[in-house]
Amino acid sequence: MARTGRGALSGCVWGEQGLGTGNTTDPKRRPRPAEHVAIIMDGNGRWATSRGWPRLVGHRRGAERVREIVRACPDLGIRWLTIYAFSTENWKRSTEEVLGLMAIFARYIEREADRLSVEGVRLRFIGDRTRLDPKLQKMMAGIEARTAHGGRLNLTVAINYGGRDEIARTMRAIARDVAAGLLAPEAVDEALISARLDTGDLPDPDLVIRTSGETRTSNFLPWQAAYAEYEFTPTLWPDFSAQDLALIMGAYGNRERRFGGVAGE
Ligand code: IPE
Ligand code: IPE
Ligand code: MG
Repeated sequence: MARTGRGALSGCVWGEQGLGTGNTTDPKRRPRPAEHVAIIMDGNGRWATSRGWPRLVGHRRGAERVREIVRACPDLGIRWLTIYAFSTENWKRSTEEVLGLMAIFARYIEREADRLSVEGVRLRFIGDRTRLDPKLQKMMAGIEARTAHGGRLNLTVAINYGGRDEIARTMRAIARDVAAGLLAPEAVDEALISARLDTGDLPDPDLVIRTSGETRTSNFLPWQAAYAEYEFTPTLWPDFSAQDLALIMGAYGNRERRFGGVAGE
């Protein structure tokens, strides 16, 4: 969990555990498990259309997958799970698909609130919520408050999220504070920017997974994932299982994370 702006500190932490120790059998020298995993859940539409079904059927199946993956996280050592549900670019889709997706989010919140709360999952949202239906915004705030005590897993759902939009919103807010004399320009450093992003309370992701075979990041966490490992899998999101996640987590354990340093030093 390297935090932007604290590179040297995280380098020390990793150094203690041994950098550049891929495939080693010495547990002390193995990389730590990925505590923060971020997922670009892609392929719902293709999953449905390849079966001759409407795209929304794929989105519904995708939401069911979220339930299974969330439940699998604690046993895999994942403490933070951040999932991309709707991008600032996804408004380009048909009204039917956009409204259908919004209805799926509302139903997910309604149905999962009790379970998440009992299972110790803290749910947060990132993205610009001001453009969402006020009723949905209220539901989002409600479940955030209701699950705020959860300490077993931090689940963050990105809705109307775009990394560039997030950075622009953050920079506008910082510029306002500088103009008002509340903040000195010299105080604007990496740590301050990190803290003021939507993800201010979250560590940076260790690992970003994208399903469906696409090898792009589509505006997901560009600042936060600057040093993340990436895994691209051809599996479509509605087919992505807890076992697939376990395999990726196992492979991650063999990666070298150098953070600009030199292996073995
Ligand atoms: C991901 O699946 C879900 C969202 C972007 C909301 P897609 O809907 O992008 O599925 P494909 O990529 O068209 O198959
Ligand atoms: C990225 O998937 C957004 C989400 C998973 C929510 P898209 O399917 O929208 O991305 P592009 O258009 O293929 O880049
Ligand atoms: Mg897609």
